[in-house]
Amino acid sequence: MFDSDAIKNEFIFFLKEKLHFSDAEIYISSDKVLTVEDENLIKAFIKQKNEGIPLDYILNSSKFYEYEFFVDSRVLIPRPETEIIVDYVNSHFSSPIQILDAGTGSGCIGISIALKNPSFQIYGSDYSEDAIDVASINKNNLGVKNFLIIHANWLSCFKTKCFDLVISNPPYIAEGDSHLEKLVHEPNIALVSKESGLFSIKKIVEQSSKVLKEGGMLMIEHGYDQQDDVGSIFKKYNFSKIENLKDLQLLPRITVGTLGR
Ligand SMILES: C[S@@+](CC[C@H](N)C(=O)[O-])C[C@H]1O[C@@H](n2cnc3c(N)ncnc32)[C@H](O)[C@@H]1O
Repeated sequence: MFDSDAIKNEFIFFLKEKLHFSDAEIYISSDKVLTVEDENLIKAFIKQKNEGIPLDYILNSSKFYEYEFFVDSRVLIPRPETEIIVDYVNSHFSSPIQILDAGTGSGCIGISIALKNPSFQIYGSDYSEDAIDVASINKNNLGVKNFLIIHANWLSCFKTKCFDLVISNPPYIAEGDSHLEKLVHEPNIALVSKESGLFSIKKIVEQSSKVLKEGGMLMIEHGYDQQDDVGSIFKKYNFSKIENLKDLQLLPRITVGTLGR
């Protein structure tokens, strides 16, 4: 039925999550009778997998950090490497601070930090109204109080010197990049940026140098081969103490800097 082990494993996961099959019912021959509804769900799963639709969109669910987020094709599926941002913030900050999660998408970064740190005030902004809708669903589902959602074009609507920390996982793939061929089901606005993938990053760094308080911090996720370019952009806009965090494959994926000298 499926031409790869990966899809077989996804089917087993689907049977457990959506149809509540037990291991015994899956692996040992069983006399379980499928309802018409179950059969239709299985048929729909096979059709969607043949179209290449990611499992998280089929299940409308994505695990990120310690939480389960609603996702659909209006937002990027949260990636494990992005959890590094959440870990870093949880371990480096304790006193109440104001944080902006720019390009919040499903809200996965901002909401995960907000749930662990109830004294922080976190703003999640996005230009996509679809993303704002999904982030609002997750805010309600997860019952988070200290996460405010704002419709904005990057940081343009915020006052000067109002944040202690800006974090962002922006779109950073260059137009025409071959990686996009495998990402056709995710929204273009979440993936692609002009100027070799650096346009959004430039905007965020430039605008962060205005909305951050002196000594405030900026953290940006980027492509594994963009570390030098992103470091130069940080320096151009007066960020210092620049460091890079690596993902599980030891690739440089997140640049961190402090505003001022
Ligand atoms: C790579 S996705 C990240 C989503 C989420 N933060 C995550 O890590 O899974 C980038 C997000 O930036 C948003 N975005 C793109 N252009 C934007 C802009 N001009 N202003 C604000 N957000 C923007 C997209 O809608 C998308 O939700």
